[in-house]
Amino acid sequence: MNSKLGWLLALLLIAPITNVMAQAEAPYREFDPMEDYLPHVKGDLRLSGSYKHWKDPKNLDWRMAGNPDENWKLNWKFMDPPFNASVHGGHFALDRGETIFKELNVKGRFAACLGARKGNLKGLRAAYPMYRPELKQVAGLEEMIERCAAKAGRVLQNGSYDNSAVSLYIANQSVGMPIKINVTSAGPLQAAYERGRKLFHTRAGRFNLACSSCHTYQIGLHLRGTVVTSPYGDVAHYPVYRTRYQLQSLHLRFAECNLDTRTQPLLPGSRPYTDIEVFLTGLTNGYPVSVPSERD
Ligand code: HEC
Repeated sequence: MNSKLGWLLALLLIAPITNVMAQAEAPYREFDPMEDYLPHVKGDLRLSGSYKHWKDPKNLDWRMAGNPDENWKLNWKFMDPPFNASVHGGHFALDRGETIFKELNVKGRFAACLGARKGNLKGLRAAYPMYRPELKQVAGLEEMIERCAAKAGRVLQNGSYDNSAVSLYIANQSVGMPIKINVTSAGPLQAAYERGRKLFHTRAGRFNLACSSCHTYQIGLHLRGTVVTSPYGDVAHYPVYRTRYQLQSLHLRFAECNLDTRTQPLLPGSRPYTDIEVFLTGLTNGYPVSVPSERD
């Protein structure tokens, strides 16, 4: 074989490999521009003050300007809490969660593993997700429920009815307490918040949509009969009772939104979903925990 042909063959062989390597180095990712969600709010209040901000009806026409009847859709929670008034499937889930919790909490070990101080569950939900030193990572409450149950020899898979029921039972001890996670000081939680913020704005899937394509630009509008919510406050009423699902954890909701938009969903408890949870929880600071809640 002459040497020129040899070179050509070698190039043909190498070219696709280098092409793949170049792709691996610089994956193509398109971002929606970062929105200035709260143009009128300054400093730390941008996070912790959003509850107050949206509760003030005069701020609610940010997106629905000129149509006061539609204002409530900007923040669904503006109208509805507290949710405890009527009986729905979430109340049955509470009973189930309490039973499992008590079975697991022999000598207070389960509560301690979840991070409850002196076994007191009050306020625990409002402080999640949190950095767990033993894991060296930020974890959501449902992830910790799965891990701590495993220590007691029980499988409570993240996203399962029983896992969400325990999560709901724990959340119910914090009803009315404001969600409070610190994402304004440097640390693992803030890093997770920033990663989550990026993910929330990253387009993906067959329709090339980011979470923000809907949850910032389309809020208040109908998509196939359901209303797109603002990114503020929703976290505070999860896990939620849904007629279709029984109980839906927050990460299952992310998976549903991913599926709806033809994007590969991830497992509940996966790192990217946990990061998005931290981001949405940061935006929910100040909102009272509102469970058991119900969505259609
Ligand atoms: C095509 C638009 C669209 C995209 C993209 C989208 N969502 Fe949604 N999302 C919706 C709609 C519509 C609802 C309300 C559905 C319902 O009520 O059944 C919703 C509901 C939610 C809720 C629950 C709100 C509530 O009522 O409590 C959360 C949380 C959420 N989405 C997060 C996300 C995240 C995170 C992403 C990105 C991974 C995402 N969504 C992507 C349209 C979208």
